[in-house]
Amino acid sequence: MNNTQGVKTAVFPVAGLGSRFLPATKAIPKEMLIVVDKPLIQYAVEEARDAGIERFIFITSQGKASIEDHFDSSPNLEKILHDRNKIADLKRLKALELDHGQAIFIRQHAPLGLGHAVWCARHLVGTEPFALILADDLILAEKPCLKQMIDNYTESDTNMVAVMEVERENVNRYGILDIASDATGIKIKAKGVVEKPSIEEAPSTTAIIGRYILNSQIFEHIGQQKPGINGEIQLTDAIQSMMKDHPLYGFRYDGQRFDCGTKEGWLEANFAFAYAEPDLREQMIRTLSKYHPS
Ligand code: G1P
Repeated sequence: MNNTQGVKTAVFPVAGLGSRFLPATKAIPKEMLIVVDKPLIQYAVEEARDAGIERFIFITSQGKASIEDHFDSSPNLEKILHDRNKIADLKRLKALELDHGQAIFIRQHAPLGLGHAVWCARHLVGTEPFALILADDLILAEKPCLKQMIDNYTESDTNMVAVMEVERENVNRYGILDIASDATGIKIKAKGVVEKPSIEEAPSTTAIIGRYILNSQIFEHIGQQKPGINGEIQLTDAIQSMMKDHPLYGFRYDGQRFDCGTKEGWLEANFAFAYAEPDLREQMIRTLSKYHPS
């Protein structure tokens, strides 16, 4: 699939520790956690591919080599599947491969925050707007969330972030928009954005979810940031600092988001994605009713 908005590059920050999922993530990256039958990072890459993305930049760190292997070809496994006539399995394996040279892996050498992770891609992205996907925000949608955003991304000097309403008690887990005007449409203009505000200080309950389309000027602004909340270089602070010249829009996507950075969110995602598959749905319902008879 192609997109005509010129958003051809996606950045995937995958350098985080995943400490909330220890010990599961001791030896495997949290982005390789499975939801039903695919790792989180594969959902993210498929979403990007379905939105017309052609270059996939992964910001990794030590211990993340399995992500690189996952998107590489695997001649031995392919040969075995072929020799055993497991054609359907072979097809599924081939479907996830990226084309030669489409995947780029670079390392973030120290955990200095999301802004810093994105900044590590500055020499690779070029001057066009690019997408940013946080794989632990998994979105179940008929039309992939990033595709919805790109279809509504009309001014290339702007920044656009996916947003959803959250409970006020949870605003301190998100970047929160200060809404400029009419907040009823799917595209809402912001007059400010603040990372993880306190409940008292939050300008709204409209929170950033891990899908962004960013103007490439962001790198300059990230480069000028001092450490923000939690002592990290925050992407949100850089978006705020470029708002005068590059307006920010929140995009209310159509779909259901699961916070797979938490156990509850990840478990629910497994349920929802299995439920969405006709082959698994009945079995899911039977299994659940076994544990929770009505
Ligand atoms: C990051 C962003 C935050 C955003 C959130 C969405 O925070 O910094 O603005 O709302 O992702 O999941 P993190 O979850 O990495 O703390």
